[in-house]
Amino acid sequence: MSFKEKIDPSKLPQHIAIIMDGNGRWAKKQGLMRVRGHEKGTKAVRDVVEGCAEIGVQNLTLYAFSTENWNRPKVEVDTLMKLLVSSLKKEIKTLQENDIRLNAIGCLDNLPAKANRELQEVINKTAANSRMTLTLALSYGSREELGHMVKEISAKVAAGEISTKDIDESVINKHLYTRNLPDVDLVIRTSGEQRISNFLLWQIAYAELYFSEILWPDYRREDLFEAIYNYQNRERRFGKTSEQLS
Ligand code: FPP
Repeated sequence: MSFKEKIDPSKLPQHIAIIMDGNGRWAKKQGLMRVRGHEKGTKAVRDVVEGCAEIGVQNLTLYAFSTENWNRPKVEVDTLMKLLVSSLKKEIKTLQENDIRLNAIGCLDNLPAKANRELQEVINKTAANSRMTLTLALSYGSREELGHMVKEISAKVAAGEISTKDIDESVINKHLYTRNLPDVDLVIRTSGEQRISNFLLWQIAYAELYFSEILWPDYRREDLFEAIYNYQNRERRFGKTSEQLS
């Protein structure tokens, strides 16, 4: 029986977030330049996005480029930005066919103008799609996002629009880049590394963490289905006891 058949469709994670790691090591193992790993990684992106749509996952967020990734060699940063533009141009059709809405989080103003323009265009064109929301984290860092949220709320307090005593979790949620997304239920990181790396620190408060040894370019939808099956067989207690849950 495949993992897809074992999945209970009534217990799907509402929001899956993936740290796509291992592109560089994949390339090194094949004796190729690192950028070849990123190119191959786009195939895994496509397969996993289609896999999520196929089984009915409603929200998928991919860590495509972190604020720290700007410090990589220029040739690698340039390649990643070019890959973003070419993938957006190529995949708009897949997004439309699968009724997927594209969304992005992060300091998008820091992206090269061309990449930002292409991104906004695909976001606008897919805005009415409703089967699934695919969010790309681009120039994203969770600490930056939290700092941005604090600045936005402080400005509203200074302007008298919000009172300090009314700042609660829901106000904070509304001022994060993820304001329209539910909390993350499942975080997957590939390549055997077991770290969060400044990804969605607030939003993963109660998420289940799943680490796969597979390098991202080799990751496919059946691997994702295995992670979801594993998630469905865990007990999520949200601070309560097992007895309270049953
Ligand atoms: C981590 O591998 C991966 C990235 C920093 C970029 C992820 C980008 C893609 C999968 C391709 C483009 C994506 C889209 C959405 C078009 P690494 O380079 O850190 O690998 P390493 O740890 O083995 O060096």
